[in-house]
Amino acid sequence: MYDSVFGNTERLARIVADEIKGSGHEVECRDQSASGEEDFVGVRLWVLGSPTRWGRPRFRFTTLVKNAVKEAGKDHDFVAFDTKYEKFHTGSADRLHDLLVRNGLRPLMPAQHFFMDGEELRPDQEERARELGRTIVSLL
Ligand SMILES: Cc1cc2nc3c(=O)[nH]c(=O)nc-3n(C[C@H](O)[C@H](O)[C@H](O)COP(=O)(O)O)c2cc1C
Repeated sequence: MYDSVFGNTERLARIVADEIKGSGHEVECRDQSASGEEDFVGVRLWVLGSPTRWGRPRFRFTTLVKNAVKEAGKDHDFVAFDTKYEKFHTGSADRLHDLLVRNGLRPLMPAQHFFMDGEELRPDQEERARELGRTIVSLL
């Protein structure tokens, strides 16, 4: 489940999803703005990707994730990643990660950060997303 205003987080989310799918798992990659809490039900692993805006995810995404926990329960693994500027200390993924840990879901790994260079993703970040997908597969 991704949020994306300019398309960068979406691009990474699709790479991660394709990598996991390529290993034979059933994967759905969804835009949060067109999704509801019902889309989280029965899904073993939640991978959440969000841009960092004013240090946090956009309000709708945070609300959706909170409602997803209410609807789908806490018996899920998750990974949270964000896109952000490296110079800022925390990003959206830290917020989402903490929210889900507080609610009793199981993190597969610490919050993951992908870095922007101005308005573009740094050139090496797509390869890092492929690596993240492979790491997730190895932990399932
Ligand atoms: C209004 C606004 C606020 C932002 N605030 C932050 C911020 O607090 N920290 C940060 O690292 N990047 C910040 N950024 C940069 C975003 O992280 C970047 O636009 C985003 O990761 C791009 O992802 P997207 O293409 O999926 O929307 C901000 C960008 C905008 C437009």
